[in-house]
Amino acid sequence: PGVAPFVNEPAADFTQAAVRHAFPKAIARIRREFGATHPLFIGGENVVTGDVLDSYNPADVSEIVGSVCQAGPAEIDAAIAAAEEALPAWRATPVAERTKCLFEAARIARSRIFDLAVLQVLEVGKQWDQAHADVAEAIDFFEYYGREMLRLGADRRMGRVPGEVNRYRYRPRGVAAVIAPWNFPLAISAGMCSAALVTGNCVLYKPSGLSSVTGRVLADLFVEAGIPAGVFNFVPGRSSVMGDHLVGHPSVNLIAFTGSERVGLHIMQMAAQVAPGQRHLKRVVAEMGGKNACIIDDDAELDEAVRHVLYSAFGYQGQKCSACSRVIVHEAIYDRFVPRLVDAARSMRIGPAEDPACVMGPLVDRVAQQSVLEFIDVARAEGSVLLSRMPDGGPGGVDASQGCYVPLTIVEGITPEHRIAQEEAFGPVLAVMKAKDFDQAIEWANSTRFALTGAVFSRSPAHLEQAARDFAVGNLYLNRNCTGALVERQPFGGFAMSGIGSKAGGPDYLLQFMEPYVVTENT
Ligand code: NAD
Ligand code: ALA
Repeated sequence: PGVAPFVNEPAADFTQAAVRHAFPKAIARIRREFGATHPLFIGGENVVTGDVLDSYNPADVSEIVGSVCQAGPAEIDAAIAAAEEALPAWRATPVAERTKCLFEAARIARSRIFDLAVLQVLEVGKQWDQAHADVAEAIDFFEYYGREMLRLGADRRMGRVPGEVNRYRYRPRGVAAVIAPWNFPLAISAGMCSAALVTGNCVLYKPSGLSSVTGRVLADLFVEAGIPAGVFNFVPGRSSVMGDHLVGHPSVNLIAFTGSERVGLHIMQMAAQVAPGQRHLKRVVAEMGGKNACIIDDDAELDEAVRHVLYSAFGYQGQKCSACSRVIVHEAIYDRFVPRLVDAARSMRIGPAEDPACVMGPLVDRVAQQSVLEFIDVARAEGSVLLSRMPDGGPGGVDASQGCYVPLTIVEGITPEHRIAQEEAFGPVLAVMKAKDFDQAIEWANSTRFALTGAVFSRSPAHLEQAARDFAVGNLYLNRNCTGALVERQPFGGFAMSGIGSKAGGPDYLLQFMEPYVVTENT
């Protein structure tokens, strides 16, 4: 009651001069804050540790965005103690008050949207529009999960037998560990943390080391929004030092993880072990990787298909779980589609994300750069390279050695047996596969262990219907790109080896953070 229906936060409108000018101003402002050391936040207090990790600008690795204190096992124990102490009061806080904190976080984030976006431009190399979209998605999560909790918080009466009242309710699980990736540094963290908080859990939040300055800003946002001491704890740390300790801790009830398949599987194994003193089974929500395909049918609208495939494959340098890394092209249209795709990719400007003319930038760090370069070597060995493009150098160009650049790479001659048709690239590497007909295209699209996103470009209603039935992914897009799911409109997440969660930004998401129970009264 009294809460307006949910609407998505609008995308940045760059036709407005005020929006265009806001970015450079925010870049100058955020740069002035560089160099700070950011403490942990435990039990309502800043905590400084001796171990500190630098977070650098991937376009110029000599530029340190900030240094972030690292939690070890002792700090994790302290944060768990603080969370356990805060839990009874937070659990008992009326839903309307918990929800208010999320709406307040949304209001604050909206008022600082350019600063929050620009921090991502500089910390993880996101282009202006995508960084803005990430903050908008965080705001959407606050607004949507707040409304969802108001819906779920109301008692539900079950059955209609005279003399008996059955009330169906939810209680929080307890202490939640939220372990987040760097690629949507605010949105995914904000989504997992706010879901855990609004359902009445207390949180230990571990961001990725590559985006932990943005992580600290999220912590500040929650504090400003009125989340009480101990309810939200910011505990960045080296996963080799504190990861297993956090996941395996007997007092952790729930782990909300988004990240790679490798780490997700490890966390599930750790969480399945019952530690001495543990009195519950741990719930794991794990959203993992993808090997997503776009199918180009023989009657596809090619201008549209080229534009959407390029955006899906190379938007944010391909560093999205939803990114397209395979384009499966019907052989009847192959010779018309592929040269157009390659020509269009040749015209993409590559350089730092802070330059709005550049549509593709560096990878997030030197480690990612090295691993994608190795992946490109495999691609060269397995297929024929159609395009390999680094930023333009020379006078007025980009000094690529300063940043974590890899070539935008398009490779043809790929079939499902190849490694580059099976392994997640997490970089700007697109495998082109020639299918003999639409049936084979669907079969190949389904030939990986992942099931996250996919797209089909076709004018045939029968083929679109066939894809809707048989293309096995969590998010299927017909005649549009396969990235950029919006909260509430496209609840997001996959299955198979892509994860075991229910859709982020959808009506079932919050249920994972609570235990349902029934109260039966004999009246
Ligand atoms: P990652 O798995 O390397 O790291 C994710 C988080 O786990 C980080 O905070 C990391 O520090 C932490 N971590 C690593 N080892 C750990 C351990 N042993 N114990 C506890 N925590 C540990 O992933 P990343 O590089 O940050 O993100 C990229 C991956 O995330 C890609 O595979 C991408 O597909 C996936 N992703 C999936 C979704 C989705 O919704 N399905 C969304 C975004 C990213
Ligand atoms: N939710 C993000 C997308 O759809 C990962 O691209």
